[in-house]
Amino acid sequence: MSSIAIIGTGYVGLVSGACLADFGNQVTCVDSDQGKIQRLKSGEIPIFEPGLDAVVARNASAGRLLFTTDHASDVRASDVVFIAVGTPPADDGSADLTHVESAARAIARALNGYKVVVDKSTVPVGTGRKVSAWIAEELAARGASFEFDVVSNPEFLREGSAVQDFTHPDRVVIGSDRPRARDAMKEVYRALFLNETPYIETGLETAEMIKYASNAFLAVKITFINEVANLCEAVGANVQDVARAMGKDGRIGSKYLHAGPGYGGSCFPKDTRAMARTGRDFGVPLSVVETTIAANDSQKKRMVRKITEGMGGVKDRTIAVLGLSFKPNTDDVREAPALTICEGLAGMGAQLRIWDPAGMQEAAWRLEHIRSRICFARDEYDALQGADALVIVTEWNQFRNLDLDRAKALMRSPLFFDLRNIYTPQDVEAKGFRYFGVGR
Ligand SMILES: NC(=O)c1ccc[n+]([C@@H]2O[C@H](COP(=O)([O-])OP(=O)(O)OC[C@H]3O[C@@H](n4cnc5c(N)ncnc54)[C@H](O)[C@@H]3O)[C@@H](O)[C@H]2O)c1
Repeated sequence: MSSIAIIGTGYVGLVSGACLADFGNQVTCVDSDQGKIQRLKSGEIPIFEPGLDAVVARNASAGRLLFTTDHASDVRASDVVFIAVGTPPADDGSADLTHVESAARAIARALNGYKVVVDKSTVPVGTGRKVSAWIAEELAARGASFEFDVVSNPEFLREGSAVQDFTHPDRVVIGSDRPRARDAMKEVYRALFLNETPYIETGLETAEMIKYASNAFLAVKITFINEVANLCEAVGANVQDVARAMGKDGRIGSKYLHAGPGYGGSCFPKDTRAMARTGRDFGVPLSVVETTIAANDSQKKRMVRKITEGMGGVKDRTIAVLGLSFKPNTDDVREAPALTICEGLAGMGAQLRIWDPAGMQEAAWRLEHIRSRICFARDEYDALQGADALVIVTEWNQFRNLDLDRAKALMRSPLFFDLRNIYTPQDVEAKGFRYFGVGR
């Protein structure tokens, strides 16, 4: 059993904290956001993540999972301190390490003995060494000398299936060449370690690189199939059949081969940009990643053109947009394709009726600048009232089986844009709609 502090209680920090407590560790989650900690203390989960509420409740009531805003007492009581704060993109594409630095300095100010400081935030190669330097600097300023080790332990969970991903990971990566720190990490992950989860120990820089290389590769894969889809449209091929056949090849694999409106979310866009930036900084251009970033941006814009052309112009037309989060089962709308699509359509004079099962609140403030063009619907059918077109941007389960007769009756004209290819074109057309998919 380890005593663990987690600094940053967002998607990663909260899921990690709850699941590490479930593994039998004693965990305290710290966040500087008082409101968030207050809600957690009163049993409320501040994010939408399926299954997380039960894990949090179970461990909180067992006393294994605590919440606080007090970094100092939390760090002092722990053997292992995770940094799980945000690393948002800076204007130049690099990862903004402000929160990581302030967490590292807060840890140093509270250090009272040997600790393992674990970087779980996604950070550019070299950040682990910077974290060491920041801690050493604060200790020197205190006139204190305590031993500590910095470990990189990148997180690969996916929002929407985060609890399952954390508790059944494809691999755990531990970046450190210090035996004492490695032993401490084995104790933290004992439950998985005994389960024979692939457990990969590397140097610090290698672990940091593994995270970026993994995310960038997935972004490339998505973008590749999106470009194939665009070509399929031009030559009359069907991208779904192409992807299915490609995916059967064990060297390729079927995952992340679904053509759509482009990737979004809090990770792929910023991590590809940060990795490309690191490549440029070191004089080693990552041309595949650079091209992927540009191709993904144009894929999102291509969706706006697809809708505009399919509708023969969107000015003063009403468009129902279903799905705003960057993927189903999350309220996270950061860099979601739906935002670009809404902005593009509104910019050309469309009126939008938008709906998402979990992301309405987040989307509302991110789309505040086009507020006058938006009506926030109450559900998917309310969004369809008087619409000239339906656009499915995110494949929430409840959008997979719409009552098409009801939908058609509510709409002014039957145009159906299925940007996730979740419907069979013939079925939709049989109900009297004109169907537009991606790459078929
Ligand atoms: N979201 C994902 O699916 C995912 C997956 C893998 C890795 N990551 C990486 O994990 C990191 C965290 O991502 P997230 O989505 O959980 O971010 P988030 O924005 O949801 O949460 C970050 C939290 O850190 C808190 N915070 C910031 N500075 C702090 C400080 N000095 N002390 C205490 N709390 C502080 C914020 O208040 C916020 O609650 C990022 O580097 C991200 O790239 C995210």
